[in-house]
Amino acid sequence: MEKIISLCKRRGFVFPGSEIYGGLAGTWDYGPLGSELKFNLKDEWWKTIVRDREDVVGISAAILMNPKVWEASGHLTAGFADLLVECKKCKKRFRADHIDKKCPECGGNLTEPKKFNLMMKTFVGAVEDETTTTYLRGEITQGVHVNFKNVLNSSRLKIPFGIAQIGKAFRNEITPGNFTYRSREFEQMELQFYVKPEKKEGKKWFEYWKSQRINWYKNLGMKKENLRFRQHETDEKAHYARDAWDIEYNTPFGGWKEMEGIHDRGDWDLSQHTKYSKQDLSYFDEETKEKYIPWVIETSGGVDRATLFFLIDAYTEDGDRVVLKLHPKLAPYKAAVFPLLANKPDLVNKARKIYDDLKKDFVTAWDDRGNIGKRYYSQDEIGTPYCITIDFESLENETVTIRDRDTAKQERVDTKKLGDILKKKIND
Ligand code: GAP
Repeated sequence: MEKIISLCKRRGFVFPGSEIYGGLAGTWDYGPLGSELKFNLKDEWWKTIVRDREDVVGISAAILMNPKVWEASGHLTAGFADLLVECKKCKKRFRADHIDKKCPECGGNLTEPKKFNLMMKTFVGAVEDETTTTYLRGEITQGVHVNFKNVLNSSRLKIPFGIAQIGKAFRNEITPGNFTYRSREFEQMELQFYVKPEKKEGKKWFEYWKSQRINWYKNLGMKKENLRFRQHETDEKAHYARDAWDIEYNTPFGGWKEMEGIHDRGDWDLSQHTKYSKQDLSYFDEETKEKYIPWVIETSGGVDRATLFFLIDAYTEDGDRVVLKLHPKLAPYKAAVFPLLANKPDLVNKARKIYDDLKKDFVTAWDDRGNIGKRYYSQDEIGTPYCITIDFESLENETVTIRDRDTAKQERVDTKKLGDILKKKIND
């Protein structure tokens, strides 16, 4: 982990939030490469979940919502809370399930566990009182459920169908830590899939989405031995969940950890919002003439956790060479272009033209510093799958070499075919 955290800082993947002011616990800023990686990950998710399907649409709801939403969803009660203990001596607070009998900081005695709500309060408008209090969303989910009718009325969707969303969520975690794993501000990618309220139908879609979601990680190259499912025990299930399974990743900082949850939310959300908003949020089935509140199968993934676990999974040491074996679809740069020598204008001009062309279709890096070996190593460390070198032969016969990150092998290809070749390699 130390090596990965240091690589993330040094090469511009992830920086501590507000670092020049001493930081703010539980917040992280993504640098140029981290932003590309996270963007690629979200893009792949959106493509698989929304664009490639006919039965799912996407929305983008506001972070700030009417506080009644959170009363209805149960997030203001003990349900959305962690048990915490306080040290009687140094007054520091810890999650009760994370420590033993004494304070880990000073060895002092601890209070009995108390519930601590995770919602972050804020104020809307000029006056700061109870009438203007609202919350930063603790899960992105509710923005979807409150728009159930809007989406239904503005589209031609029929049950079963899903509404997907990606966005920030906020939780006042007592003990943020393990790098970005547990943050106070993080991003989620979620699907709320509405099904007929029947046991068999619910089970069918639950199993379907479980398998879709784990395969998504595998198809993007995550090693299958580092992935597993774990069903929640009755006492650890969220207040809305009738059944919950986590996709866990085998981390170097504490073994199996949650990456994504697949939840059977039943009719919890729509029933609660029907009750609190007094709006009819039921669905009318034109074929069977039945009216019902659908059940929800949810897939809820953490963008930051997935980004972190893809980085961990890809990190490889080969002698003194560090290689990030990210799937080309996720890699921040798809290609890097090098003129063999920086002091030969013919080579530089030719390379520059190839770079300008490739940049239109691929996120491409340029490097003309030092020797070629060092440039390869530098790109390996940030996961660039293909390095293209323009050498003296390129000037004679319109060819360049492509060097593969994982095999370190080179092939010589026709410059005119370069774009198509790269496209094929990245998408295969
Ligand atoms: N809507 C359901 C929901 O929010 P959750 O299990 O509380 O379920 C879903 O969260 C996912 O969000 C988790 O699997 C995790 O990937 C991510 N997540 C939750 N809390 C997080 C935190 N404090 N920091 C980073 N990611 C977090």
